[in-house]
Amino acid sequence: MLSLQRISVLQFKNYSNRFFDFTERIVGICGKNGAGKTNLLDAIHYLCFTRSYFTRLDSNNVQRDSNGFRIEGDLVLNDKPEKAVCILRETGRKEFSVNDDAYDKFSRHIGRYPCVVIAPDDAQLITGDSRERRAFIDALLSQLNAEYLQHLITYQKILVQRNSLLKSFAETRNKDMALLDVLDQQLIPAGDFIFTKRKEFFISFLPLVKHLYNEIASNPEDINLFYESEMLQASLEELLNISRNKDMMAQRTTSGIHRDDIEIQLTEKDFKTIASQGQRKSLLFALKLAEMEVLKKEKGFPPLLLLDDVFEKLDEDRISNLLNKVCVENEGQVFITDTNEERLTRHLEDLQVKYQLITL
Ligand SMILES: Nc1ncnc2c1ncn2[C@@H]1O[C@H](COP(=O)(O)OP(=O)(O)OP(=O)(O)O)[C@@H](O)[C@H]1O
Ligand SMILES: [Mg+2]
Repeated sequence: MLSLQRISVLQFKNYSNRFFDFTERIVGICGKNGAGKTNLLDAIHYLCFTRSYFTRLDSNNVQRDSNGFRIEGDLVLNDKPEKAVCILRETGRKEFSVNDDAYDKFSRHIGRYPCVVIAPDDAQLITGDSRERRAFIDALLSQLNAEYLQHLITYQKILVQRNSLLKSFAETRNKDMALLDVLDQQLIPAGDFIFTKRKEFFISFLPLVKHLYNEIASNPEDINLFYESEMLQASLEELLNISRNKDMMAQRTTSGIHRDDIEIQLTEKDFKTIASQGQRKSLLFALKLAEMEVLKKEKGFPPLLLLDDVFEKLDEDRISNLLNKVCVENEGQVFITDTNEERLTRHLEDLQVKYQLITL
């Protein structure tokens, strides 16, 4: 099991110096707009992923007019206490340690504290471009498989180098094709690994999402999800060879796993364009609940769940269904924010589980 018992935040966003004790498995966090609910969840996110859910730029998270921040968490993992500390130094250098043991690579921490977030802007996962869906799948697979994350880091690094080489080809007459060959040879094993893992994973994951969607929607709907990848038709090596001229014209790599997507259909039409807001939200929850189930199964204990403002635009029945799934059927720790304290307490009371309420 995994639980967070206390978090201390120093110079982090709107928090100068505060700590919170989490005494129950279900933690409700209330407060007006701007009170710091999302920021508190983001501090928890830092402890799990060594970074913010919202921005890659750590300096954005330092309290205005301060230098550096510190987040410290007291956790219990499989009955053993652990202390995780994330420090952004005044110099901009970030350090992350567990039990005073500093990581040389932060990527090694990913997956130690599995965590699922549901936040309002996540609707982008359904309506946004393919990058959003790849980021979701990559975050999930990285928590499950450290090797996946390493291959992903390699792929992205080589891809940047390859794209800048292609750009330089357009600017000079001298085209170093041998260097392009070398980069391709480095890109291929990483791309092959990622493709194979995604393909294997989707075999069980996509039907699970469909199943959960239909549970939330209560009436079965004709929804279908497919893995979309050029690598289903040809190997990365073949793709890179075929598109080499095109890549040189476009000055970027036009095929590879960085173009993969999940295609979603409703009654055989594009889900994005025809689904209602409620249907989109249901699909978002289905994806996140599926993520939760997969993490739980693979890790042997449930992930931390961070639910930020999820009640907006949901009818009362859907709120109860969702809370029942995440608080009662799931035995992991759950943090839920809401601006409306009355609504949150009413729903938590209905669940008949112990909970703690923090008012900011
Ligand atoms: N780097 C920062 N330094 C100081 N204050 C910050 C910083 N970043 C954000 N804030 C402040 O934090 C507050 C927003 O907090 P947060 O987003 O957690 O609110 P919230 O309780 O989730 O509100 P809502 O109900 O609107 O979602 C804002 O007042 C914002 O000005
Ligand atoms: Mg918020």
